[in-house]
Amino acid sequence: MLRTLRSVWRFRRFELDADLRRLQGVADVEDLRELARRRLPSGVFDYIDGAAEDEITAARNEEGFVALELRPRILRDVSAVEVGAEILGRPAAMPLVLAPTGFSRMAHSQGELAVARAAQRAGVPYTLSTLSTRSIEEAAAAAPEARLWFQVYVWRDRGLVEEMLQRARESGYEAIVITVDTAVLGRRERDVSSGFSLPPRLGLGTLVEGALHPGWTLDFLRGGPIEFANVAGRGTGPGGGAVALAEYVNAQFDAALSWRDLDWFRERWDGPIVLKGVQTVDDAVLAAEAGVDAVALSNHGGRQLDGAPPPVELIEPVREAIEDRLEIYCDGGVRRGSDVVKALALGADAVMVGRAYLYALAAAGESGVDWVLDFLRSGTARTLALCGLRGVDEIEPSLVRWRTPRC
Ligand code: FNR
Ligand code: LAC
Repeated sequence: MLRTLRSVWRFRRFELDADLRRLQGVADVEDLRELARRRLPSGVFDYIDGAAEDEITAARNEEGFVALELRPRILRDVSAVEVGAEILGRPAAMPLVLAPTGFSRMAHSQGELAVARAAQRAGVPYTLSTLSTRSIEEAAAAAPEARLWFQVYVWRDRGLVEEMLQRARESGYEAIVITVDTAVLGRRERDVSSGFSLPPRLGLGTLVEGALHPGWTLDFLRGGPIEFANVAGRGTGPGGGAVALAEYVNAQFDAALSWRDLDWFRERWDGPIVLKGVQTVDDAVLAAEAGVDAVALSNHGGRQLDGAPPPVELIEPVREAIEDRLEIYCDGGVRRGSDVVKALALGADAVMVGRAYLYALAAAGESGVDWVLDFLRSGTARTLALCGLRGVDEIEPSLVRWRTPRC
């Protein structure tokens, strides 16, 4: 009996690194989300996880991928599978871009620096948000070999935007991503309920939450004061006090932005321009006519207009309308490698991911982001192999079909 017991008895090596230890039981993005939920104060988790109004669009983004069925082919020698792809004419390790997300230091003190370094290791582009908590220069210095893109929110103060473009150029950023779905901020009702502000306001509730989440609190306190790193000292920050995001965005962003403004950008940026937040075929056609290099079909992860269509449903008609004139990216609800393959089969060149890496960052810091990028890469490779494909260039439209009535 003892011999039988000994033959099956296995102790897992005790992992000394706390982040790696936390990752040992993780199988997918949903596990990372659950870890993030436990580790973050509820207001911070809700800011990341939440979306606009009834969160219908956020849910449909994920359901869109569920509604797609893969049609695998067999007996095709998939002993070697390649997931490399071209994005903006340059090689990437997989057809994936890290989407811009504001205030990443709320998830972990290393914030944008951790994400930039992980992107560099994984060989995929990372888009730094205008509303980042580490500056354009800090991110570039942390990951000098990374492909960095800069996401632009258009401030009323155009001098400030011009300055940011120049700083991005001087720091070697490859492309700009102009986000066009945020004329005003969507109503995130979880944030309304929690009174979420940036930086988080200190009150009795925060103190209790802080004590209940000591790991996050210690890390947060060690990280130094949080600021809007790209606009600090320009009289546009929260002025030392805490500010609700909606109040800030509605005061600073230029709601008068229009198609004509793209010329303004063309005159000041000679690299690739990506338009992020395209939500109809008509606007994708206008974007192609305006001469941008790529469109990111996106509803901001359901955080802006609730009721907007899931981007995955737009890929096919947009590809048909604009043919090969532009690259097409798609974001919202990408949680697995199979989602990447589905988006490519519909005609996308790459996907973007937001929450997947933020949950990972919150759950296990930089190691978490490494983990999720490897999870998405290996998931893409495995899906290709199981579909009888040796690389992303073998993906064809016949690989997918809509299974159920669209949700
Ligand atoms: C975002 N997103 C976003 N987009 C943008 O252009 N600038 C920004 O500063 C932010 N900030 C931001 C913060 C947080 C917490 C989230 C979750 C998202 C939207 C982001 O780029 C992307 O469109 C979505 O995250 C995609 O959906 P998934 O992958 O989160 O489902
Ligand atoms: C958001 C802003 C920062 O989605 O874009 O919260």
